[in-house]
Amino acid sequence: MKLSIAQSTELWRLLADASRLRLLLLLEAHQLSVAELTEITGLAQSRVSTHLAKLKRAGLVQASRNGSGAQYALSPDRGRAAELWTVMRERLDDPQASVDRERASEVVRVRKHGQTWAESVAGRMELHYSPGRTWEATARALIGLLNLGDVLDVASGDGVMAELIAERAESVACVDISSKVLAAARKRIGPVSNVAFTRADMAALPFRNQSFDHVFLMHALSYARRPQAAISEAVRCLRRGGRMVIATLNEHGHEAAMQAYDHVNLGVSPATLEHWLNEAGLVVESCRVTSRDPRPPYFEVVTALARTEHSPLP
Ligand SMILES: C[S@@+](CC[C@H](N)C(=O)[O-])C[C@H]1O[C@@H](n2cnc3c(N)ncnc32)[C@H](O)[C@@H]1O
Repeated sequence: MKLSIAQSTELWRLLADASRLRLLLLLEAHQLSVAELTEITGLAQSRVSTHLAKLKRAGLVQASRNGSGAQYALSPDRGRAAELWTVMRERLDDPQASVDRERASEVVRVRKHGQTWAESVAGRMELHYSPGRTWEATARALIGLLNLGDVLDVASGDGVMAELIAERAESVACVDISSKVLAAARKRIGPVSNVAFTRADMAALPFRNQSFDHVFLMHALSYARRPQAAISEAVRCLRRGGRMVIATLNEHGHEAAMQAYDHVNLGVSPATLEHWLNEAGLVVESCRVTSRDPRPPYFEVVTALARTEHSPLP
């Protein structure tokens, strides 16, 4: 999102206030009313209301009504202050915030009137923190169910995927165009013996035909000048019964964002991706938009799962 100088200074001013930061930290963890925020922070009720109105105008905070009045929470997309808040939040750690947090837990406990935590957030649980319930923890748990055989991770980056799946695979071949990124991957993985690293272009993979059970193209196609060629090359490396998983951006019109991340295309629609996979000889099991970024410009991700024509692995 583009901001004028006036909008930018207004945003900085909005976050350059200790009381507003305290409120934001509280609303990150709980839905709270003005009265509750007043009780927790000790600020005057009128000040709390004024601060909330400003935060709401900027889209950082949203209000919803329940039986007892308005409840405030951080908005899922954080409005036009999203990036600034993210940067600031990462570093924010303050004794006052810990005190506020403890008071908030007590206020919420009293308010719940016998509801469990799950009941109080049912229907929007993904927006609420509970100890240890991160997407990483969820992924690491579910990955235990996989049995991946030999994996080719195309445009593997610095080894995040390889580190996740190495224990569930016979071997993982990481391929990336950048030796610097591969050096970081080697450092991340350390002396794990079933992960190998190769510098190569995804359009010309240095592997024999049919040598992998699974091929990953995770956030890789945005870097392909000829995505169809990259897919054909990946298919060539798949064994009979092998499967390919793709995650990539849906078609979008955000050229500036594309340049910032060195993407070379503006995404691909599920229909086009499915067509390319069929053309490459794969049976498409699913190909659809599976998620949407919670922040502007709300990029969408297309996930595709496809397999070779032959029967799946036993
Ligand atoms: C967004 S990262 C994705 C990393 C990884 N797949 C993941 O999901 O964590 C994209 C990677 O593609 C690599 N890359 C860009 N162009 C490539 C090409 N033509 N062939 C192979 N890798 C490429 C970049 O160096 C970068 O590490």
